[in-house]
Amino acid sequence: MSLEIKNFTVELRKDNASSINVTDDLYLKVDEGEVVSVVGESGSGKSFLGLSILRLNPSHISNIISGEVKIRCKSQNEEIDIMKLEPEKLIGVRGRLISMIFQDPNTSLNPVMKIGEQITEAILAHKKIPKKEAKDIAISYLDSMNIDGKSRFASYPYELSGGMRQRVMIAMAMVLNPCFLIADEPTTALDVTTSLQVLKLIGNIRKKSNIGVIFITHDLTIAKSISDRTYVFYAGHVMESGNTEDLINNPMHPYTFSLIKSVPSLSADYVPKQKLFTIPGFLKKDDFSKGKCRFYSRCFKRDDECLRDIPLKSFTDSGQEARYVRCIKVNNV
Ligand SMILES: Nc1ncnc2c1ncn2[C@@H]1O[C@H](COP(=O)(O)OP(=O)(O)O)[C@@H](O)[C@H]1O
Ligand code: SF4
Ligand SMILES: [Mg+2]
Repeated sequence: MSLEIKNFTVELRKDNASSINVTDDLYLKVDEGEVVSVVGESGSGKSFLGLSILRLNPSHISNIISGEVKIRCKSQNEEIDIMKLEPEKLIGVRGRLISMIFQDPNTSLNPVMKIGEQITEAILAHKKIPKKEAKDIAISYLDSMNIDGKSRFASYPYELSGGMRQRVMIAMAMVLNPCFLIADEPTTALDVTTSLQVLKLIGNIRKKSNIGVIFITHDLTIAKSISDRTYVFYAGHVMESGNTEDLINNPMHPYTFSLIKSVPSLSADYVPKQKLFTIPGFLKKDDFSKGKCRFYSRCFKRDDECLRDIPLKSFTDSGQEARYVRCIKVNNV
């Protein structure tokens, strides 16, 4: 069972005359039971990528230029390329083969519909079973998310806490037993304690159902706690990918290095009370342009050689898992 994305390029139309590739020449793979993180700062294109995988970005702003998103799902006995599906077949794939937990549960749940009915509706959209049976399944999934399904079935989203709403979203994403889950910053809107509970739940789901998870986050400490492998993403490009622990212990790309250095608990050379390290400047629309390294404007190692498109290269040492890095000066970060 695996999800493999190859040569995936999706453009965002800025206006009639111009566009940028917010996902550019992407390669990403998730195996059965594996959690991979997509880490990058706000605006780097993480949500756009998640939505593009499910072809959920509206067609008036986004256009898939190239690539494949192949899902091999043993439990459902299916193998498909989402990019090749007829639009009317997409609805039968979303939720059943691959699900997504959206960034903000407050805007993703229907505010005027009882939560139990929202989950029941999702089940009935895919399964021809009696409504009573679907309702029982919805209750059992709420129970599995530590929400009392019977008493909370008729609650409206506004009657629940933020953490409960996020767990309802997870129940809804899991209710059709998908092979893959995309979790888009599912803990961003939550306090630290609730966030830990949600992370634990996702970890338990992975163990119990053996599904593959793409976990989108801006937080490397979360990536470290939850994922087997990590893809570091900046302005639509994978900058570095590899085993999460190796990548954090030995970053090869200046962006990964800088991200780690700006998180005191991950940075080996942090001295208490010293001024925190920050990456200069901020991510701009121009960083998505072609003809230069996308991290150029903020990189401490840049020079004129970086003013060209930079390919992703493999730096696999013997015995180690493959590391891919998109930088021409990798050896002395
Ligand atoms: N629907 C949209 N309309 C216009 N611009 C968008 C839309 N979705 C994404 N973008 C732009 O694409 C870039 C990436 O956004 P996004 O994927 O939301 O970033 P992230 O999730 O990493 O914070 C941003 O510059 C954002 O403004
Ligand atoms: S290619 Fe150049 S600008 Fe880009 S990360 Fe490497 S050193 Fe920095
Ligand atoms: Mg986002």
